[in-house]
Amino acid sequence: MTVIGEPLTRVDGRLKVTGAAKYSAEFTASKIAYGVIVQSTIPCGRIARMDTAEAAGLPGVVAVMTPQNTAKLSSPEKRLSLLQDDAVNYNRQPIAIAIAESLHAAQSAADMVRVTYDQTPAKLDFYAGFPASYTFSHNNEPGDMSWGDVNAGLAQAAVRIDQIYTTPIEHHSPMEPHATFAEWDGDQLIVHDATQNVFGVRQTLSRVFGLPEGNVRVLAPFIGGGFGCKGQVWSHVVLAAMAARHVNRPVKIVLDRPQMFGPIGARPRTHQHLTLGATNDGKLTAIRHEVHANTSVLEDYLESSAFPTRVMYACENVATVSRIVPLNLGTPTYMRAPGVATGTYALEVAMDELAYTLQIDPLELRLLNYTDVDPHTKKPFTEKSLRECYSRGAEKFGWSRRNPEPRSMKNGSQLVGWGMATETYPANRIAASAFVRLLSNGRVLVGSGSEEIGNGMYTIMTQVAADVMQVPVELIDAKVGDSTLPQAPVAAGSMSTASVMPAVKAAASEARRLLIDAAVGDPSSVAHGAAPDEIEFRDGKIFRKSTPGRTETFVELIARRGGKPIEGAAQTRPGEELTKFAHHSFGAVFAEVSVDPDLGMIRVPRIVAVFDVGRLINPKTATNQFVGGIVWGVSLALHEDTYIDPSTGRVANANLGEYRVPVNADIGDIDVSAIDIPDTNFNSVGARGIGEIGITGTGAAVANAVFHATGKRVRDLPITPDKLL
Ligand code: MOS
Repeated sequence: MTVIGEPLTRVDGRLKVTGAAKYSAEFTASKIAYGVIVQSTIPCGRIARMDTAEAAGLPGVVAVMTPQNTAKLSSPEKRLSLLQDDAVNYNRQPIAIAIAESLHAAQSAADMVRVTYDQTPAKLDFYAGFPASYTFSHNNEPGDMSWGDVNAGLAQAAVRIDQIYTTPIEHHSPMEPHATFAEWDGDQLIVHDATQNVFGVRQTLSRVFGLPEGNVRVLAPFIGGGFGCKGQVWSHVVLAAMAARHVNRPVKIVLDRPQMFGPIGARPRTHQHLTLGATNDGKLTAIRHEVHANTSVLEDYLESSAFPTRVMYACENVATVSRIVPLNLGTPTYMRAPGVATGTYALEVAMDELAYTLQIDPLELRLLNYTDVDPHTKKPFTEKSLRECYSRGAEKFGWSRRNPEPRSMKNGSQLVGWGMATETYPANRIAASAFVRLLSNGRVLVGSGSEEIGNGMYTIMTQVAADVMQVPVELIDAKVGDSTLPQAPVAAGSMSTASVMPAVKAAASEARRLLIDAAVGDPSSVAHGAAPDEIEFRDGKIFRKSTPGRTETFVELIARRGGKPIEGAAQTRPGEELTKFAHHSFGAVFAEVSVDPDLGMIRVPRIVAVFDVGRLINPKTATNQFVGGIVWGVSLALHEDTYIDPSTGRVANANLGEYRVPVNADIGDIDVSAIDIPDTNFNSVGARGIGEIGITGTGAAVANAVFHATGKRVRDLPITPDKLL
């Protein structure tokens, strides 16, 4: 029985579609109070006066917390130093919180808090901030990294591409808003939080409130989309716990949609200067990728757009440079394929421009610069099958039928364009732990403090445990999203599957070993006295290989132990493979667009993508991830754009009506597949991550298709109709 690799339907699907799955905003308590955050209306300055008398006098209002009456936090971090002073560092910064018996009363009270400010000039001009910009690291990787001699490489180049590409600020906009329910029991804190990282929330809350980590429990059994904004602890999480302590009651804070734009992170704006040098026969001689991206004045965050350039193509002379520009905006954060989505857009459009300059097919140009090793360290990849992705993708898409001439392909009155790009995302993995418990009732419980953010975690944990234990999937229950479970990483960086599945596999193997030991040592067992390798365990039954007709169930065995469950636990972590190899996933994406030449309207009737991500644990949930990523890529290319009012620093389109994301009518046929070669150099299950790679490259493939259709190169995303006319 092999369950790994089967398209098992989501084991939590029924709970989700029937509404039985409980999300953070749905948790409640008998004495609950509701918190509503008051936000600043200026981008920079000080609160001169805050008048709460009217608000506090409203019926049902329990308290209004302001910097004047709020307890000092024992270990405040800058962004989480909430209501501790009168400083305002961005528009819509939390400056007070109204707490009431009902949500309605809390909203009314929040509206009635009167604030006057002493305003000081805000840093809101991205370009004006360039001279004062500085470098920063991303996930411990330096922002600047170079090898060879780029100037020499450019000097020897026969052709050069030298262009600037820009991407706007974007907001994650998951369907489920951020929500936190906090309850104190003495100095014990329980929090239901919409988070991708229960252990991260536990760690931060324990630090901010000066508590041992064991005093804080964080739960998040289901998350309605995260995409990075739920990977951090933002102000509302700490405010909910502060408010609950202040009023000595459970408090719930649910952000409304406008509050999802500003205080909970965003993909920062990027300005990317790409310079490529190449020989006449298409070999890259130099790449320079210089990135400016905004951060906030409170914290440093780097959008690592130059990083994919470090791994994509064979080139001896490469310089990647990152600069961050502090602005009076909310701190940016990770957003699906942070850095890589924006960076592959610029690099892969520049490659398309190079292909046109050289009159070489864009796919051929990629193959001419293919690398089997990390171009900087020269280390081999744990596994790389990008050539197969290119060839399969091209075949499925019909790339060979493309006429390279812009504006040459038509469908009636519509211009048709075909574009392609390479996709990549780092293969990340960190330590993770899990348990697998055989229960007296015949069920198997598998637990890990990982997260279900739509990634299919419940389902693939079930599959890996079922595979090792040889127990039907119907008998397995999976548990995630609770900081009392074994520690697991934040569900981010496309690393949950790659990190947690080896732990589940090891825990299940340990449970199996303990079960066989127990049987061998049990005088009443059919396996008593046998050597462990003479025993088989299948379909929940133990038997000797020599006498498969004489079996007993693990339920019988556990019953004779007085019902004591058999539990295997394991922690797994990456080993020397992390330094011996380079570890990245790759893919090839092909897009067709049709463009109305009179209206500039762009449609994307079809996309074909082939991924190289190691082994798929579940092709069904994997397809969801790939398709979701590709939809985000279309969105990056054509739709998303946060408008910041240049004088107030306020998000002007902080709603789902004016912040455009694709709807069903915007998305055509998406054909995804994977090479599905187990990457056994990377981990014991052979799987790399799949959550983010789909967005990378896709923006460029669509942009390149728009150029092919129209002959017009738009280098500033999103490509909206006005930019084509
Ligand atoms: Mo993701 S942006 O690593 O949650």
